[in-house]
Amino acid sequence: MMRPIIIALDFKNQQICFDFLNRFTHPEDLFVKVGMELFYFEGPSIITKLRKMGVKVFLDLKLYDIPHTVEKAMEQLGRLDVQMTTIHAAGGSEMIQAAKRGLVAGSKAINGTPAKLLAVTQLTSTSEAQMQSEQLVSVSLKKSVTHLAKLAAANGADGTISSALETPLIHEAAGNQFLCINPGIRLKNNSTDDQKRITTPAQARELGSNGIVVGRAITQAEDPQAAYQIIKQEWEG
Ligand code: C5P
Repeated sequence: MMRPIIIALDFKNQQICFDFLNRFTHPEDLFVKVGMELFYFEGPSIITKLRKMGVKVFLDLKLYDIPHTVEKAMEQLGRLDVQMTTIHAAGGSEMIQAAKRGLVAGSKAINGTPAKLLAVTQLTSTSEAQMQSEQLVSVSLKKSVTHLAKLAAANGADGTISSALETPLIHEAAGNQFLCINPGIRLKNNSTDDQKRITTPAQARELGSNGIVVGRAITQAEDPQAAYQIIKQEWEG
């Protein structure tokens, strides 16, 4: 897989989503991320529509449940022919394996290629102090992230989603083949919004990132296509 720029379609409904995509000359060439907000309102048909257009889809639903439930849910997502999807690594080895089995079975049913299975380690909104006092995890945040990345890799996940700042650590722990997909991307003159551990596209590339997720820096830009091109140039170096 090429190192994609994935646009986070954090919109309320499909109308706003397609109005946005149609501002691009070639929306079919885009790789987008659909999260809970859009998916829970529009349902699977939004994915079918995007795939019919030719758009590549990262369906980010961060599954976390007992292995059997996750396996069956992933089988359904596998049938949607998405290119990437997510689970929480904290669900454990059996859940991660079950997620992979489900994805493979679902994509086989449609003669497709299984989506890359990405694991969330610690949410980027979790601080070290919070992790220690609320999850009773007594190691450092870095240690927990590395541990969960290794667990994910050993049980069939294809990568993780994390801040680009954690990419070198994760590659070191899980190998350079393990995909590090990184949100929290801002251009130098962008507002940081609610993100804390941010990098520019160039920094993400230098840190070894295998793909970046960009939301507001493109979706809220006056000219989204121009913003996308600037990010692409910086990302490709
Ligand atoms: O607008 P912005 O570029 O900050 O959007 C980043 C996207 O990446 C959002 O959809 C957000 O939910 C997602 N994300 C994140 N941090 C993670 C995982 C996902 O920002 N650890």
